[in-house]
Amino acid sequence: MTDARITWISGPVLRARTSCKMHVSEAVLVGDSRLLGEVIRVDGDSIVAQIYEDTTGLRLGDGIEATSQPLSIRLRPGLLGNIFDGLLRPLADMPGDTVLPGMREAPPQTFAFEPSREAGQRVAAGAAFGTISLGHVREQCLAPPDTGGVIDSIVAAGEYADDATLCVLRDDEGREHTVTAGQRWPVRRPRPAQRRLPHGEPLVTGQRIIDTLFPVARGSRAMLPGGFGTGKTILQENLAKWCDADIIVYVGCGERGNEMAEVLNEFPGRKDPRSGRPLLERTVIIANTSNMPVAAREASIYTGVTLAEYFRDQGLHVALMADSTTRWAEALREISGRLGELPGEQGFPAYLSSRLAEFYERAANVETLAGTRGSVTIIGAVSPPAGDFSEPVTSQSKRFVRCFWALDRDRAQARFFPAIHPLNSYSEDVEALASWWQAQGNPDWAAQRRRLLTLLGERARLERMARIVGKDALPPRQQLTLFCADFVNEALLRQSAFSPIDRFCSPARQTSLMQAFLHFIERAEQALDEGVELERITALPVYRHLQRAAEDIPEDKIDRFHMLLSRVDDEFDRLTPAESHAR
Ligand SMILES: Nc1ncnc2c1ncn2[C@@H]1O[C@H](COP(=O)(O)OP(=O)(O)OP(=O)(O)O)[C@@H](O)[C@H]1O
Ligand SMILES: [Mg+2]
Repeated sequence: MTDARITWISGPVLRARTSCKMHVSEAVLVGDSRLLGEVIRVDGDSIVAQIYEDTTGLRLGDGIEATSQPLSIRLRPGLLGNIFDGLLRPLADMPGDTVLPGMREAPPQTFAFEPSREAGQRVAAGAAFGTISLGHVREQCLAPPDTGGVIDSIVAAGEYADDATLCVLRDDEGREHTVTAGQRWPVRRPRPAQRRLPHGEPLVTGQRIIDTLFPVARGSRAMLPGGFGTGKTILQENLAKWCDADIIVYVGCGERGNEMAEVLNEFPGRKDPRSGRPLLERTVIIANTSNMPVAAREASIYTGVTLAEYFRDQGLHVALMADSTTRWAEALREISGRLGELPGEQGFPAYLSSRLAEFYERAANVETLAGTRGSVTIIGAVSPPAGDFSEPVTSQSKRFVRCFWALDRDRAQARFFPAIHPLNSYSEDVEALASWWQAQGNPDWAAQRRRLLTLLGERARLERMARIVGKDALPPRQQLTLFCADFVNEALLRQSAFSPIDRFCSPARQTSLMQAFLHFIERAEQALDEGVELERITALPVYRHLQRAAEDIPEDKIDRFHMLLSRVDDEFDRLTPAESHAR
């Protein structure tokens, strides 16, 4: 059926004259190959659509079919462990790892279904009525968010395809609804939840500079801006690997093909450090390399966040990594440019900020429609050209995130990783998380964190001064501050992604390390005040042990920190002030 005919084509956007009423956001099928597109503007009897596939070969006069549906993806069991393009079309095993033109989604898959409700019982909209197992993965089977009622019939436990009817619900008006395991959802519409909950616990990442200094709460949103080669991808991958989310949605958005290929090749082989199962089993990867159609890249972050919400609705904690939102914004800019829209700052469209807001606002900690708790935490990487944080994507994103992890070029060049700069970064989740740390046995976390940040701030000031007057001209107390701050920076904030012992640091080990360091600093300041010379403090053997503690003391030997603390006390107790020493 032809509802419109193409009158103009420019790359991924086209204009068409239509004979029916189409609406903005409606999905359309274009040309003989039925390429997928979306209406983005309606103007009298003409429409503008963006096409999610390569438009080479389309001709003026080719037909367009309206679908009357907004651009949607089919959420279904069996997504975990797979790799898709920006519209949830499977990539693995495809020729050249790209999707075939017009191919909408994966063929139905079979899975084991186990009902948890029986006929006559009521299932609320969005509530679970059974479980689905596919290999080792178990998922909740939910009624669609807009469909609830009394169960008329429900199938027995057994093997079913994801398009098979699993139950029939009768709503209060007496209408029948058939429910399958797969359900469509428009990617640009947030999935509903019962209510948003306040942030109360962190997404534990195992990275000290994040968990201890700039923590992100479950359901919160963070950004990771950093210039070329500052470690965004490695950090995102490390977070994906180690953070305590149940599910990872990794959106590789417009990165170079070879970089994405590394992620794709590495992920399948990696083990989940917590369960020992392949990491890919708790992961969905959405890949849109820079050589794939630009409009699909624009859709990919919405597809990613819709997927994340789908798992959230099953009562799971999801972390969504987007690498990089700059490439996504560039797709937006390219499409806007072809439409001839009035460009805003650096050519980005004026609606860049509202689109960023729509994306980040979908991060949430919620009570789901099914009555369970789930969350979506968003971590977006940003690649500002030349590392300039005042450019539009960085500065606009900053308005909508709660955590800002600024990657620093100088640190990265000095191979200081993770290169998050402690003075340019912040987290607005600190207050909400203090009670969580208290429950973990560290009521002083917020004060300790402040102490470390003050020390690092002092260091920057004193370094500037030392550059002018020379380090030796600083009074001993300031020299000690510099010494301690360097020590914290090197031994606490530096953490190699490749060290078998230190690539992950549990909150308990983070606390022990921080307490040991702060205890040393406190005793050192005390000793200096009592008249002990600085050289004798910095020459204490325990200092070397502390310096190596993060690398030397593994997770299962945390009690060794007690010994380290007593050693600090012993060595300082033996230090006597200079005059008494001389006597
Ligand atoms: N946490 C880390 N531990 C050790 N080395 C790291 C770490 N992070 C980054 N590196 C080193 O820095 C290099 C660049 O990192 P990465 O590819 O993540 O940067 P990027 O910011 O994603 O770059 P691009 O702007 O090109 O996307 C890596 O190849 C690695 O050698
Ligand atoms: Mg990268």
